[in-house]
Amino acid sequence: MTHSPRGCTIWFTGLSGAGKSTITEHLVPLLKTRGSKVEVLDGDVVRTNLSKGLGFSKEDRDINIRRIGFVCHLLSRNGVIAIAAAISPYKNIRDENRALIKDFVEVYVKVSLETCIQRDVKGLYKKALAGEIKEFTGVSDPYEPPTNPEVICETEKESPLESAQKIVRKLEEMGYLAPLAQSSSDGVHVTHQQAVAVAA
Ligand code: ADX
Repeated sequence: MTHSPRGCTIWFTGLSGAGKSTITEHLVPLLKTRGSKVEVLDGDVVRTNLSKGLGFSKEDRDINIRRIGFVCHLLSRNGVIAIAAAISPYKNIRDENRALIKDFVEVYVKVSLETCIQRDVKGLYKKALAGEIKEFTGVSDPYEPPTNPEVICETEKESPLESAQKIVRKLEEMGYLAPLAQSSSDGVHVTHQQAVAVAA
């Protein structure tokens, strides 16, 4: 089995309901199949432990995102592929984490607010639009999209698996994942497609 040459952080950013966690669910097995060690820091989960008690003011979100960035930093430098899946609405804190971690792959999960409102998986947009939840990202609180992300996943146009595959290709390109195709001289040649089939 091939092993990830070095760790990195895959930093998802996007509105609530954009598809960050869903893409992560598809991405993790693809990475594990390739021999990578993977850890996920999902916003919803982190807020039940590491960031328990924090709210959604800018100050609290910044603390949350810095904490996630700090843990990703520790993991990445020890050869793990750390995946952060939080809204992380503020560009300057994401960039702060980029500067800290360095091995940083920003993935913008791009989707219109209208689609998120339509999906409303957790029923939170309805409440936010009714004014029952204050400071709701995209509705009554800002979201600053990245200006130069390594990957853009457009979840209105591509499936979660396609988005995950896009990220895998970028990791290969950046050297965080060894390319699957091995020397054809030993008769072993695994295509990306085959690997995806194995992981699915
Ligand atoms: S972040 O802004 O600090 O990055 P995080 O990703 O941890 O946010 O948490 C976002 C999740 O918390 C959303 O997916 C949603 O389920 C829930 N949530 C509750 N209140 C809010 C709010 N005011 N704004 C955004 N998300 C909220």
